[in-house]
Amino acid sequence: MKQSSVKRKFESFGFCSSNPYDPRAQKELVLHISNQVQKGNDFTIKMYSWMKISILKQKIHKTTKLDEADFRILYKNQELSQNNEDLEDYGIKNHVTLKLMARKQGQQLYFINSIHNILEESKKTQEQFQNAKWAVEGAFMKGITPKLTDFGTQGTYILEDLNHKPVAIFKPYDEEAFAPNNPRGMRAKMNSPGLRQGILSGEGVDREVAAYLIDQLSGHYHNVPITDYVQICHPAFHEAEEYKQFQYEKIPIKEGSFQLYIKHDDNVGNFGSGLYPSIEAKKIAILDIRILNCDRNEENILVRKKKINQSVGQTRQNYDYFLIPIDHGYTFPDSFKICRDEVVWYHWGQMAQAFTQDEKSFIEKIDPIKDAEILREKVKLREICLRNARISTTLLKLGAQADLTIHDISEILYREDPDELSPIEIAISKAEYNYDNNIRVPKGYSNFKEKIFSNNLIQKSLEFDSSTLQNQERPKLGQTLIKLEVIRDEDENQSSNKDMLIKDTKKPQTSDKKLARVGSQQEIKKCTKPIEKVWNEDFFSHVTYFLQQIIEGKIQEKSQSPRKYRARYISEEVK
Ligand SMILES: Nc1ncnc2c1ncn2[C@@H]1O[C@H](COP(=O)(O)OP(=O)(O)O)[C@@H](O)[C@H]1O
Ligand SMILES: [Mg+2]
Repeated sequence: MKQSSVKRKFESFGFCSSNPYDPRAQKELVLHISNQVQKGNDFTIKMYSWMKISILKQKIHKTTKLDEADFRILYKNQELSQNNEDLEDYGIKNHVTLKLMARKQGQQLYFINSIHNILEESKKTQEQFQNAKWAVEGAFMKGITPKLTDFGTQGTYILEDLNHKPVAIFKPYDEEAFAPNNPRGMRAKMNSPGLRQGILSGEGVDREVAAYLIDQLSGHYHNVPITDYVQICHPAFHEAEEYKQFQYEKIPIKEGSFQLYIKHDDNVGNFGSGLYPSIEAKKIAILDIRILNCDRNEENILVRKKKINQSVGQTRQNYDYFLIPIDHGYTFPDSFKICRDEVVWYHWGQMAQAFTQDEKSFIEKIDPIKDAEILREKVKLREICLRNARISTTLLKLGAQADLTIHDISEILYREDPDELSPIEIAISKAEYNYDNNIRVPKGYSNFKEKIFSNNLIQKSLEFDSSTLQNQERPKLGQTLIKLEVIRDEDENQSSNKDMLIKDTKKPQTSDKKLARVGSQQEIKKCTKPIEKVWNEDFFSHVTYFLQQIIEGKIQEKSQSPRKYRARYISEEVK
């Protein structure tokens, strides 16, 4: 069609499309309408990609005589609900098939329900959450749909209210990276190895809620936005081809985490880290240590600026900065293979400052055993993940008690080199060895200052050859996709899928562990969840004992080279 005639046609509708002269927009599209309302009456409609949805609806009404309020048009898994959007806005640029469905009247189609409410009783929290759900539900009824975020690796949706203001973030289980319905092409079975070591696909939602629960237990010290489980029924969420059940009655009901949206100015990457008050920065780091966060990148800390009242004669506007931690899907891992680079705050100067008295008394009050009990009761986390969080929190408490800084504690907790064990990993391996060999925990182990090397059994265990532990390497760069997994003997014995694990006979094996190679992506998908094991108090006593040894070493190291441990320069604006 000539440009002039397209233009005439375009103008006759009185629209203002972005670029109707674009050659692609001049292509007449033949849309096949699969008519599910009047079965056997499929038809075609000719349109242009720059035309509005309202025109498509008018054309369908003309052909079918159906009232516009009585039908819905679906393309892939989304409803073409916004009358003033172009076909192209919905990705329709070619001849495609659209589904025409009946819209049931007087029945609530889209809904949000709370499931397993973990929120504290406080009226304010309950109301805030309820209001957010209602605001989004109201928007659904008016055709405002969940929006998939532009970037990321999983299905993260922004839910808006009637005024298109963001209200909440929804993440469904089945759209996590390497879960069955991931919208960005990273699909595998539930419980497949994910993008971070030690966290399986479909485990992120529980971790989002768990991080909030931990914060709730600490009086919201860390500022995690309110998060809880919900189920949502809306056709905008992603269903992979093989999961599509797109009959009208079967709009998928998705379960996931619903987190209140917090108005913010930016993320931490876009300001100098020296601007953040020490207490704000440390609140995030303390949280990350408690929950063993493996993904604290700069986008996962939001910044809110508040103007400070200016004094007379002052020209420069100053701000208070507040930090809000988000995105806790990669927390509570089953392993300690976390590198220092995984936490953006590792190099911030605030971390080399001593804990204040307030911070120390906050940390002192943290009860890792109670935290684990409540998590166990309200959220689904694997026992080993709870164990690990209890260990990292114990390190935090012992470290603070011994006047270590967060920087010192991080040097114990995280790997400096991705291929080398961190001090805490070595401590845990030694504790496991003692525990498995029924070696008694020395009396008075909890007295930090006491020298307890006199106990022969413990002395013996300290001679344990940690070099055998270095086998748990990451694959080298450039190596073909091969995943190394540590599996326990009992796991292997009970596994009915033995054939999926190709044993690596070349690698030396430690007493209770074997290394297995999981080859192709296909085999990775077949991985099942590890068998649960429960650790008793003896084990934790051994861990505490070895952590104390490491902390003592650190104190000595600091006293010998104090320069290395001095707090670095931090901007004057830090309080
Ligand atoms: N509670 C929130 N308040 C405000 N913005 C948020 C919130 N949660 C997420 N976002 C925004 O959405 C983006 C993606 O969310 P995030 O939780 O980081 O998921 P992803 O796993 O996709 O990175 C964030 O970088 C941030 O811009
Ligand atoms: Mg993120």
